[in-house]
Amino acid sequence: MTDGMSSFAPKDLDLKTHLPHPARVYDYLLGGKDNFEPDRVAAAHLVSRMPNTATSMRANRNFMVRVVRYLAAEHGIRQFLDIGTGLPTSPNLHEVVQEIAPESRVLYVDNDPIVLVHARALLVSNPAGRTAYLDADLRDPDGIMSSPQLRETLDLSKPVAVTLIAIVHFIPDEEEVHRIIHRLMDPLAPGSVLALSTITYDGSPEEVRGAVEAFNSDGMPLMARTSAQVAELFDGLDLIEPGVVRVNHWHPDEDARVPDTHVHMFGGAAIKP
Ligand SMILES: C[S@@+](CC[C@H](N)C(=O)[O-])C[C@H]1O[C@@H](n2cnc3c(N)ncnc32)[C@H](O)[C@@H]1O
Repeated sequence: MTDGMSSFAPKDLDLKTHLPHPARVYDYLLGGKDNFEPDRVAAAHLVSRMPNTATSMRANRNFMVRVVRYLAAEHGIRQFLDIGTGLPTSPNLHEVVQEIAPESRVLYVDNDPIVLVHARALLVSNPAGRTAYLDADLRDPDGIMSSPQLRETLDLSKPVAVTLIAIVHFIPDEEEVHRIIHRLMDPLAPGSVLALSTITYDGSPEEVRGAVEAFNSDGMPLMARTSAQVAELFDGLDLIEPGVVRVNHWHPDEDARVPDTHVHMFGGAAIKP
């Protein structure tokens, strides 16, 4: 699919390693190595306010794995538009769905240069399928939907699953998030799916408020919702059972056995009628 990272990561790319970045903070908390001192300091600040952050993030990553596996196995989805991909973390989305259907196609999108630099690891597709990477911002949904990378990877006449996993909380404007979701879902065929997860106040509002304050004071805008607000993000779509729930309750497996008090993410998946 690609001849190397130089094909999409310019040599003069400024990674701003003196500042914390959400993708690298998340990578650190998941046990990854693609992070720098300011990311680790911000992660420690976050954990000081929300002690179970790492468990919550791991539960979120496991939710991503279960939801895409379910969509591939139970709903026959073969195309995925994953926005806010993050740094490569095993298993990556395409590895999960191509295990079920090798012909699956995935377009990964992120706006963080560090993800761009490491995107090569996301492009090791099963030859029967395809993966591609687009360096773009969720706040420009029309740019994403009209990009050559999208047109070359996904066939919009067939269902696509849009996965917004742990990203909408970085856009602290509720109206804008609703607008973005409509712009992404409107061009898609019936049977397409929106799957998302985001940080919520339910259960431990004080801890979550602390996490929001920590991220905001470290220069990374973060907004938490109530689970009712998360459900509104699926307006006009048919929620798949069990609806919008704490992520460890969505079609749980062994890995999902974590105390609810440690999980601060709600999510769900819904079908476009
Ligand atoms: C917490 S990570 C989640 C990674 C992955 N989706 C997961 O759940 O395992 C959030 C990712 O969203 C990306 N992101 C944040 N705001 C974004 C935006 N406006 N446009 C594109 N990507 C964004 C960050 O760079 C980061 O990689």
